[in-house]
Amino acid sequence: MAVPASPGSIAIEAQDLVKRYGVVRAVDGVSFQVRRGEIVGFLGANGAGKTTTLRMLCGLLTPTSGRALIDGFDIFAQPLEAKARLGYLDEEPFVHPHLTGREFLNYIADLYRMPRGPKRQQRMERLLGLFELADRNGELIGAYSHGMKQKIGLASLLIREPSVLLLDEPTNGLDPRSARLVKDLLEELAALGTTVLLSTHILEVAQALCKRVAIIDRGHIVATGTIDELRAQAGSEQASLEDLFLKLTAGPESRELIERLLAPKL
Ligand SMILES: Nc1ncnc2c1ncn2[C@@H]1O[C@H](COP(=O)(O)OP(=O)(O)O)[C@@H](O)[C@H]1O
Ligand SMILES: [Mg+2]
Repeated sequence: MAVPASPGSIAIEAQDLVKRYGVVRAVDGVSFQVRRGEIVGFLGANGAGKTTTLRMLCGLLTPTSGRALIDGFDIFAQPLEAKARLGYLDEEPFVHPHLTGREFLNYIADLYRMPRGPKRQQRMERLLGLFELADRNGELIGAYSHGMKQKIGLASLLIREPSVLLLDEPTNGLDPRSARLVKDLLEELAALGTTVLLSTHILEVAQALCKRVAIIDRGHIVATGTIDELRAQAGSEQASLEDLFLKLTAGPESRELIERLLAPKL
């Protein structure tokens, strides 16, 4: 049920998003754009504001101010148009504990009014097979491991063929084989025109998968660009993504602390 894309090449846009909790500014004026067919990594340490930003982009959390656009549609003002194009995987995947994997995929497909029939059935079985969830003998999702919940959550997005994917730490809790599968799958989907914004604090995932990254630190975007652009920005041509990340996100106080911890004892 792929929804035809609207004209224009920007698939995801955050416009000055702010989320305040009392005096805490979890997200403090975040703006960026993701072009159609791109895989962009959204990087940040724990508590940097990744989940809060993604939950605003998908319409789950109301921003204090700012806008979120999916394929040019405002997620709050035009929710049906925006959400029909969108697949969102939360940090804690939204799955139904009292259904089997197969029942859950059927339920989601019904919810999104995908016509029943051999095509839908085939796609469902392919996804269950791909994620190694096909032969669970009626096991309910409630009994799944975190990694399996992650995979059935992802399958429940992919069954709908959304053109834009927002994924919060999609490889978190996956064994190396499943993590590789997800990476390969996302690359293939992007090659077919799907847009992917994925958050991660695991830099190898971003380095392997993303042409561009946006780095968030304490609610602020501190850098966006390709890894080469970030290198140029940081003035270090040989730097790894990890070096750049630490340079851009570690405040002087934490650097000093690390140096002191690592200093040889006198
Ligand atoms: N419901 C909430 N109430 C108060 N503070 C929150 C709430 N949700 C998140 N925060 C705070 O906002 C900041 C960003 O959190 P989050 O977006 O979850 O970060 P990340 O996903 O990058 O680890 C953190 O300091 C967190 O404690
Ligand atoms: Mg998070």
